[in-house]
Amino acid sequence: MRTLLLLAAISVLSGADHDWPAYGGGPAGIRYSDLNQINRANVKQLAVAWTYDTADGAGDPQTQPILIGGILYGLTPRHKAIALDGATGKPLWTFDSGIAGRGPNRSMVYWTDGNAHVLFAAVQSYIYALDARTGKPIADFGNAGRIDLREGLGRDPAKQSIVLTSPGIIYQDLLIVGDRTPEALPAPTGDIRAFDVHTGKLRWSFHTIPHPGEFGYDTWPTDAWTYTGAANNWAGMAVDRTRGILYVPTGSAASDFYGADRIGDDLFANTLLALKADTGERIWHFQGVRHDLWDRDFPTPPCLVTVKRDGKMVDAVAQATKQGWVYLFDRVNGKPLFPIEYRRYPASDVPGEVAADTQPLPTKPAPFARQQLTEDVLTTRTPAAHAWAVEQFRKLRSGGQFVPLAVGQDTVVFPGFDGGAEWGGQAFDPETGLFYVNANDLAWTGSLAQAAEGNSTRRTYQTNCANCHGDDRAGAPPQIPALTNLSGRMTAQQISAVIRQGAGRMPSFPNLSAADVNAVAQYILSGESKELAAADSPKTPARYRFTGYRRLLDPDGYPAVEPPWGTLNAINLNTGEYAWKVPLGEYPALAAQGMKETGSENYGGPIVTAGGLVFIAATNFDRKFRAFDKSTGALLWEATLPFSGNATPITYQLGGRQYVVIYATGGKAPRGGPTGGAYVAFALPAGK
Ligand code: HEC
Repeated sequence: MRTLLLLAAISVLSGADHDWPAYGGGPAGIRYSDLNQINRANVKQLAVAWTYDTADGAGDPQTQPILIGGILYGLTPRHKAIALDGATGKPLWTFDSGIAGRGPNRSMVYWTDGNAHVLFAAVQSYIYALDARTGKPIADFGNAGRIDLREGLGRDPAKQSIVLTSPGIIYQDLLIVGDRTPEALPAPTGDIRAFDVHTGKLRWSFHTIPHPGEFGYDTWPTDAWTYTGAANNWAGMAVDRTRGILYVPTGSAASDFYGADRIGDDLFANTLLALKADTGERIWHFQGVRHDLWDRDFPTPPCLVTVKRDGKMVDAVAQATKQGWVYLFDRVNGKPLFPIEYRRYPASDVPGEVAADTQPLPTKPAPFARQQLTEDVLTTRTPAAHAWAVEQFRKLRSGGQFVPLAVGQDTVVFPGFDGGAEWGGQAFDPETGLFYVNANDLAWTGSLAQAAEGNSTRRTYQTNCANCHGDDRAGAPPQIPALTNLSGRMTAQQISAVIRQGAGRMPSFPNLSAADVNAVAQYILSGESKELAAADSPKTPARYRFTGYRRLLDPDGYPAVEPPWGTLNAINLNTGEYAWKVPLGEYPALAAQGMKETGSENYGGPIVTAGGLVFIAATNFDRKFRAFDKSTGALLWEATLPFSGNATPITYQLGGRQYVVIYATGGKAPRGGPTGGAYVAFALPAGK
């Protein structure tokens, strides 16, 4: 340990170049840098060193770039891969696959054997192998330079809706990936797959929905793997390269909110898997939610940490959740380092549904977000807002975690469907054992409704679209747009194109025929349902469907709970105690009226440095990039970005100068807010 620190100190003193070689900072995913040129004493002088505007539209790419050998590799909002000079931001090359990507594409993967320098860049369902020096596809890899993740799943590739939203991870000569699938059926199974970095050939695959004879098969109905889907890793992974163990958190099974066709615990959905990285064999697993009915995916990559226990150092894996919890396990055998309690929860009263009797909760650390909406947690921002909230609250079911949704009445989900923790990941400081996690802290609601009978365009809409855009097509702005006023703004053809290709978090719908797609587009434009011929009816009718994601917002659009609405937390993983907790983000309009430090929704993670700093942007409304004192949580510096920085930053050193870079996109900004795609690099003024 001491030699390591000494070596780090020497390299920093000598101003040696330092990379940010992988998503999450490296295979352990702890988002830590031993750089200290920028530190508590001088961070106030931090200024923009360069800005690179990708000038490729806007979207929600959520990209954390990587920096290798002085070159920064990033993605544009439409998923072109780009290489920039890390010191100046000057573009070196661009790779345009010819496919316009949309939505998250959180990073790229770099692999080298000393001779070849390969970048793996995803566009929708494809992974391209590029020569890192030129940006040109490597013809020997896969099919003329790319592989297609829709293939090899035992189902018709043309009908699979798959995109790669978080990059894979390298172990030796393997590129290991998950994928993002739809959250309602039809959905492909979320197999974890390892591909040969040279050829693109499949080397192993792990079935997250077990086949006959495989462990966990009996936690599903017979043959579930042939018809159900998801249980996928969309959030990213970590790998212990010394031990050869891969850590894979998975999401819920499809459909998210009604599981009558998947009665049982549903292993390995909502599970942290420890697999042998070279073969994909299971070593241990921990299922965080049994038979998930709340979309409680593990939403973030794990962090491989080392903690102090009874005077000894223990290699551990930390996994944060949407519920606001941190689980901590011995990395080798999966034993919890803080006791886990299995608590009883209510049964479901929805016909056909069977909720699990018990769910596991960590007894420590305490949750980093509030756990139950009660009347005394409702907003007091104005008397009118409070009165409104009380009236709404009395109509809601609010029993804390794991209360199954009901038909015809809204149930509170708190923290909401977007956490708690989210995809930005957490930072861990090996010097102190502190773990930094940012969180959302507002309530959402959800309910189920009986699916319509017969074959109509309304039914096709309800089956495929209403879970996100809502029965009333009101969506959940800003993330999920309303579809009520599209006429004049979009043609039926444009709407059909969105349905066929997907858009951001919205999957594509290869299961719908051209006639279905056109009929749904007409329905959205006119609001009038038409009967459909039997041949056009949806293929997978579920008896109950989700009616839409709804934030509990007051009539002025602010969260209907008391602040803080977003937080940054520092938790000591040696003890499970909090070192500090501060609100993260503001609403500029409220701050101007004196209502400051409310916290706000935030998406994108922190990094921590040996310079004593935690850097984080992430806040949706104030477009700030901030540096906090990592020991105390004191705000030491902030700058306003051109667009909200809904991504995780990186830091590196080049030519004796330390840089901190954030991708500003406005990806989660309110509708009408500024959006774009600019990499912004900060450094101390030259010569200081
Ligand atoms: C998993 C959630 C989800 C589902 C299911 C879904 N959408 Fe979307 N949809 C979104 C999101 C998120 C966006 C915004 C994407 C963006 O702009 O990047 C969107 C955008 C759209 C748009 C563009 C609206 C605009 O203002 O630009 C249309 C049209 C649309 N969806 C229609 C549909 C239809 C029709 C279906 C069903 C066939 C559907 N969606 C299913 C989440 C979803």
